[in-house]
Amino acid sequence: MWARGDYTQVGERLLPMGAVLLDACERAVGGLTATRLVDAACGVGNVALQAAARGATVTGVDLTPELLALAADRADRAGHQIDWVTGDLADPATADRATSRGPADVVASCAGHAFVPDTAACTAAIAQMLRSGGLFAYTAWERWPDDPFGRPLAPYVSVCSPDLMPFAWADEQVAGARLTPFFDDVRVEHRRHDWEFASARGAADWVMHVSPLHVAVMEGLTPAERAALRGRFVDAFTEHVDGDGAVRWSTPYVLVTARRR
Ligand SMILES: C[S@@+](CC[C@H](N)C(=O)[O-])C[C@H]1O[C@@H](n2cnc3c(N)ncnc32)[C@H](O)[C@@H]1O
Repeated sequence: MWARGDYTQVGERLLPMGAVLLDACERAVGGLTATRLVDAACGVGNVALQAAARGATVTGVDLTPELLALAADRADRAGHQIDWVTGDLADPATADRATSRGPADVVASCAGHAFVPDTAACTAAIAQMLRSGGLFAYTAWERWPDDPFGRPLAPYVSVCSPDLMPFAWADEQVAGARLTPFFDDVRVEHRRHDWEFASARGAADWVMHVSPLHVAVMEGLTPAERAALRGRFVDAFTEHVDGDGAVRWSTPYVLVTARRR
């Protein structure tokens, strides 16, 4: 699914969230220099590249080879030496390959691991990658019922269903229950991610042609349904148009840290 659309454009917009995540990692472990960090579900390597720039020894793991190829190209151009592992984050063999040079001090996942359907296996694999006392830090979107990215989809897909979507990782009780078997000191902060598009129509086009998740939904619709959905997106984004015509809003997410027992 994640090779649909143009994830690079999504990733660029998530760079500030990746920086927030790495700032939290640095505060928790006292700087990333000489730490071994795994960017879990790394996409085009947003966190991986930023972590390498901050001095970490980095491995990026993702299921989607097309995105890892883009990540490797970005790292080469930036002069960063990063290991890339293609694999399912819920598979212990992936965890083994990602830590073949030694256990991680930090596993960071920016709106990433939350998309892995087998949450128990994914949590176990992340725990497997970390040394005792190591840090797991992640961000995850909070529910979208009123967000212009999510609300227009409601008639077409159960986008707010915990089965399909990653939102449960943003629920403090659910996250705590999932992490408790392996982690202590679970801390949850609520943050917001800012979005800006030049116009409501531009935002609707972006969502329909660029965002892999939305493009995947579009593929299951008839042309008439797609046209209707575009109208719903334009209406939803129009609610957030400022005086200069630009669309601005923010989407809530959580920043979670936990310590491997
Ligand atoms: C929203 S993107 C986040 C990418 C990246 N962390 C970022 O900051 O841009 C979700 C990522 O999860 C990856 N992913 C989904 N399921 C996965 C799985 N089972 N194992 C590993 N990666 C997975 C996708 O390929 C995609 O790159």
